[in-house]
Amino acid sequence: MAAALPTSGMTALGAIDHMQVPEGGALLVIGATGGVGTFAVQVAAARGIRVIATASAQLAEQVRGLGAVEIVVRGAEPLDQALRSLTPEGVDAILDVVGDHSVTRSVASAVRYGGALFSTAFSLDEQLLADERIRTANYRLDRKPERLAELTRLVTAGTIRPVTGAKLPLEEAPRALAGGIEVTGLRGKTVLQVR
Ligand SMILES: NC(=O)c1ccc[n+]([C@@H]2O[C@H](COP(=O)([O-])OP(=O)(O)OC[C@H]3O[C@@H](n4cnc5c(N)ncnc54)[C@H](OP(=O)(O)O)[C@@H]3O)[C@@H](O)[C@H]2O)c1
Repeated sequence: MAAALPTSGMTALGAIDHMQVPEGGALLVIGATGGVGTFAVQVAAARGIRVIATASAQLAEQVRGLGAVEIVVRGAEPLDQALRSLTPEGVDAILDVVGDHSVTRSVASAVRYGGALFSTAFSLDEQLLADERIRTANYRLDRKPERLAELTRLVTAGTIRPVTGAKLPLEEAPRALAGGIEVTGLRGKTVLQVR
């Protein structure tokens, strides 16, 4: 379980720290069912942030269980419209982990003045990065030890948990990487066991 923590967990925590979402503020996580997204939902909820998340219909309840209070089901309605009706005053921050530029672009104007729009999947183009109304970034993990320490504290306290899927022997790594979910057959981080 510990192996599933550092990269995705530190990316989620680092992005949330840099976005400076206030307690009680609203954060949209685009792509809440994967490695970074499941940590982002949990860390933000633990900080008293109102989490809105996108997820497929099958995984909506799982994401709610992680702390998202509103789910926008993928494909059910346009994300920008759903977001505007949930946050008519503007959303405080958006974290994109999917990387669909057209989606990121469609929601950018729903961020309130001074809010933040970050992507770990580098979906922000030059025009979005130049938007002076909001803080924007294609966020890259910075591996600060204090973030790993905070994640460890949160996991030890039972506040957050890594969402893990298949556990495979190390020899299966090439097959798991090449085949993805078709091989692992499960959602969550795939853990490789080194004997
Ligand atoms: N910048 C950095 O330092 C850094 C660090 C770590 C990761 N990353 C990047 O961050 C991104 C996310 O990483 P991850 O580990 O969280 O990936 P992941 O576990 O594969 O999760 C991807 C998420 O995107 C969703 N998704 C995929 N295709 C979609 C689509 N067409 N429409 C809507 N949702 C879609 C998935 O939903 P379903 O489960 O429903 O398919 C899932 O929630 C990747 O691009 C990765 O390379 C960057």
